[in-house]
Amino acid sequence: MLSKYNINLFKYIFYIVALTFIPLNANSELSVEELIKGRKALFSKNYNTAKKVQMFASKGDFEKAKSLMGEMSKNYKNLLEYFPENTKEGFKTEALPAIWENKDEFNDLMTKASSDMIKLTKVIDTSDDVKGTLGKFMWANCKACHSKFREEH
Ligand code: HEC
Repeated sequence: MLSKYNINLFKYIFYIVALTFIPLNANSELSVEELIKGRKALFSKNYNTAKKVQMFASKGDFEKAKSLMGEMSKNYKNLLEYFPENTKEGFKTEALPAIWENKDEFNDLMTKASSDMIKLTKVIDTSDDVKGTLGKFMWANCKACHSKFREEH
């Protein structure tokens, strides 16, 4: 017979399991349209943020630049969840099929783009070539990914 204690234990285990999986599948509740439009919006936002990073860093305002670098890093991490199998086409996506044929490589580039933004916060204020450092840790990652995984536009 189940004691009250056992029932509570089951509930507890259920909540732990539920809480473990809900965040992982958070985006599975988004429709294909929301995912494709959502990732486009995140990339556009990152582009605008990158331009601000360039502007602040060039002026020597490293504190503002660093906080925006942190935002970009988080955005990239979020983007990992925006490319499920069912979002290969539609809604004017420029994502190439190569993404799903090389999902690990694509995810690694996204993760590298994210961690490079954190590295950038650590090296930017002591860099003697601000432009070159931004190129290496920020802009190079856009190009590396787009050349293989985004349609020519
Ligand atoms: C790991 C891969 C990856 C990285 C890194 C990356 N992008 Fe992209 N980007 C993509 C893909 C894929 C698309 C196409 C998304 C779609 O249309 O569904 C895209 C789309 C875009 C778009 C178009 C958004 C729209 O409204 O259609 C812009 C702008 C953009 N990226 C800018 C950048 C900039 C700037 C950087 C670097 C600071 C960058 N991206 C880094 C993969 C990447």
